[in-house]
Amino acid sequence: MAGLDSGFPQIWRIWILAPRTLFLLVSGALTLIETWPGRINLDPAICNRTKIGMGLSSSLLPGHHSLRYFKTTLSGPQSRETHFIAVGYIDDTRFELFNNEAPIPRAEALTSWMEKLDPWILDGETWWFKYLAQVSRDRLNTFRAYHNQSRTGSHNYQWMCGCDVGLDGRFLHGYDDHAYDGEDYISLNEDLHTWTAANKVAEITKRDWEAAGLAEHVRNHLQSGCVRSLLRFLKYGKESLDHADPPKTHVTRHSISDQEATLKCWAQGFYPAEITLTWHRDEEDLTQDTELVETRPGGDGTFQKWAAVVAPSGEEHRYTCHVRHMGLPEPLILRWEPPESSTPSTGFFVGLLLLGVVVIGALIWRKKGFRC
Ligand SMILES: *[C@@H]1O[C@H](CO)[C@@H](O)[C@H](O)[C@H]1NC(C)=O
Repeated sequence: MAGLDSGFPQIWRIWILAPRTLFLLVSGALTLIETWPGRINLDPAICNRTKIGMGLSSSLLPGHHSLRYFKTTLSGPQSRETHFIAVGYIDDTRFELFNNEAPIPRAEALTSWMEKLDPWILDGETWWFKYLAQVSRDRLNTFRAYHNQSRTGSHNYQWMCGCDVGLDGRFLHGYDDHAYDGEDYISLNEDLHTWTAANKVAEITKRDWEAAGLAEHVRNHLQSGCVRSLLRFLKYGKESLDHADPPKTHVTRHSISDQEATLKCWAQGFYPAEITLTWHRDEEDLTQDTELVETRPGGDGTFQKWAAVVAPSGEEHRYTCHVRHMGLPEPLILRWEPPESSTPSTGFFVGLLLLGVVVIGALIWRKKGFRC
């Protein structure tokens, strides 16, 4: 993405350009901005606080895989219909999208391997997403009623569920987290049997879901259906999911004052998201004094990160940035490279001379031209 250099926000943003909509992923939590008409703009900051905001983690061990679905439902005063968008992730790769406001709402493949799947699989997914859109709309209405809110306000319901498998393809963990209006609402506990309600209103939902025995259905789905889907997708996408793109790196220097400058170590264009950037002064590890931004998606399926330290002017050469990533055979060690000396070099004068020759030549040629 352009404009990275200065305003590199400390949030995750994934842009999915769907017709008429910009779709943002903020710290893993989904935020949706409708460009027109009726702009719905959820404050990204409020989404950072939810469990869902931490749902997309790349803390998986090598060979482990995860399948996650982030579903966002919006009700607005502008439209009577609720807007439902679901994005599917395997590990750090978004591979599937469903948007109920698309001209033909259906499960869309976002990766080339996904396009090779039998069409009936995507048809099945479409059916499933349409069903989830209804479930989500009903839940949003119920949550709103429990909050004593009128039907005319804008509200949102975020739902993340998914499963992790180990090396042998067996189930490891399951997730089912729900947020309402940007705040944690209710989550399935790790035991997959009980719920945690985040507030008083969510207690009502907890009682509803306990009475309906919902945990059992969710558990069954996470342990079998979710794992089956994940393994099937892995079969098609394994090669591309297991690939590693090494980071493109560089160090920039920004003066703070005459005495100090910020050294910023950049890593861009890498996959998967797991990476470590550390600054050292001589042999000393500067982790304590390093400003580190959260790894964020670059929008093209790769990730970006930077780490910065403050260095006294003139001592920049003592500082090294160490980059470790799966795509690198060994850690990279970078330093700030001062730009070429600002006093005009021989090259500059040669260039000037050549320019002069060209200009004079052009003038002579022009004069000749006039003569004809
Ligand atoms: C909604 O209204 C009911 C009845 O007036 C009240 O008992 C309840 O506490 C209200 N809930 C909220 C979240 O304000």
